[in-house]
Amino acid sequence: MRALALSLALLAAPAWAQAPRSGLDYQGEDIRRLQADDFANPAMLWVERGAAAWKRKQGAANTSCADCHGAAEQSMRGVAARLPGWDKRLGRVSTLDTRINACIVREQRAPEPPPEADDAIGLQAYVALQSRGMPLQVEVDGVAQPLFERGRDLYNQRIGQMNLACTHCHDQQAGKLLLVEKISQGQPTAWPAYRMEWQAAGSLERRLRACFLGVRAEMPAYRSEDLVALQLFLAQRAQGLALEAPGVRR
Ligand code: HEC
Ligand code: HEC
Repeated sequence: MRALALSLALLAAPAWAQAPRSGLDYQGEDIRRLQADDFANPAMLWVERGAAAWKRKQGAANTSCADCHGAAEQSMRGVAARLPGWDKRLGRVSTLDTRINACIVREQRAPEPPPEADDAIGLQAYVALQSRGMPLQVEVDGVAQPLFERGRDLYNQRIGQMNLACTHCHDQQAGKLLLVEKISQGQPTAWPAYRMEWQAAGSLERRLRACFLGVRAEMPAYRSEDLVALQLFLAQRAQGLALEAPGVRR
C-alpha cells in the first residue's frame, strides 16, 4: 500500500518540479569559462577528430560520411536535437551514437566502433555541434511511447545500495552539494562533453553509468535498452532547453 502511494505520488507532477535549467548553471566559473570559448574548450579536440573522420573513406564500401551527406553544417543541422528518435530503417529508437553506427555498418560496411572510442565520440560531438543552440525537440508518442514510459519509470525507480532514484537527486536535491559537486537537474544537453574527472570527452551514456555507480547500482551496458530509454526520457524532460554540446563538466 505504501509502495503504491509512493508510485502514485511520483506519477503526479511533483511539487518540486522546476523550470529546466542547463547543468552549466551549476558548474563553477572555471568550467563555464572553458565551455564559453571554443579555443579553450578541450572537447573541441574531439570535434576536430570527428571532422577528420567525416571526410575519411573507410570500410568495404570505401566511402566517407561526406560522400553521402556532403557538408555536415547543412545536412546534420538539427539532427542531434531530434534524437533519440524512431528510426524507420531499423525499426527502433536510435541515439546519435547508434544512428551513426548504423551508417558505418550498413553504408560504409565497416565494423561498429566500440562505445567511447575517440573517433566515435568525435563524430557524435561533430554532428551534435551542428545543432548547438537549437532547442531539444524529441517525439515520444506513437511507436516511441513504450520506451519513453520505460525511461520515465527507470528515472523514478529506486536503485542500488543507496536506494535512490534519479529524481531524488536531480529534482529534489538540485542545487545542493554532494561532497564537492553541486547536483544539477541532470539535463542531457551538454553531451558528448569533456569531463575533467575523465580527462577525456565521453558520451551521455558514460555519464549515466557513473550515476549508477554512484548509488552502488549495477551499471546498464552501453547501448542497452535501459540507457536508450533513459536518454529518451531525459530529452523529453529537457524539451525546449538548447543543445550545448560539446560541453565541459567537472
Ligand atoms: C546520489 C545522487 C545522484 C543520483 C541518484 C543520480 N545522479 Fe546524476 N549526477 C549526480 C551528480 C553529483 C552529478 C554531477 C553534477 C551534476 O551535473 O549534476 C550528476 C550528473 C548527471 C548528469 C549530467 C548533467 C550535466 O549537466 O552534465 C545527468 C544527465 C544525470 N546525472 C542523470 C542521472 C540519471 C538519469 C540518474 C538515474 C539513473 C541519476 N543521474 C542518478 C548525482 C546523482
Ligand atoms: C552510402 C551513403 C551513406 C554513408 C557513407 C553514410 N550515410 Fe549516414 N545516412 C545515409 C542515409 C541514406 C540516411 C538516412 C535514411 C533515413 O532517413 O533513414 C543516413 C542518415 C544518417 C543520419 C540521421 C540523419 C537524420 O536526419 O536523422 C546521421 C546522423 C548519419 N547518417 C550520419 C552519418 C555519418 C556520421 C556517416 C559516416 C560515419 C554516415 N552517415 C555515412 C547514407 C549514408
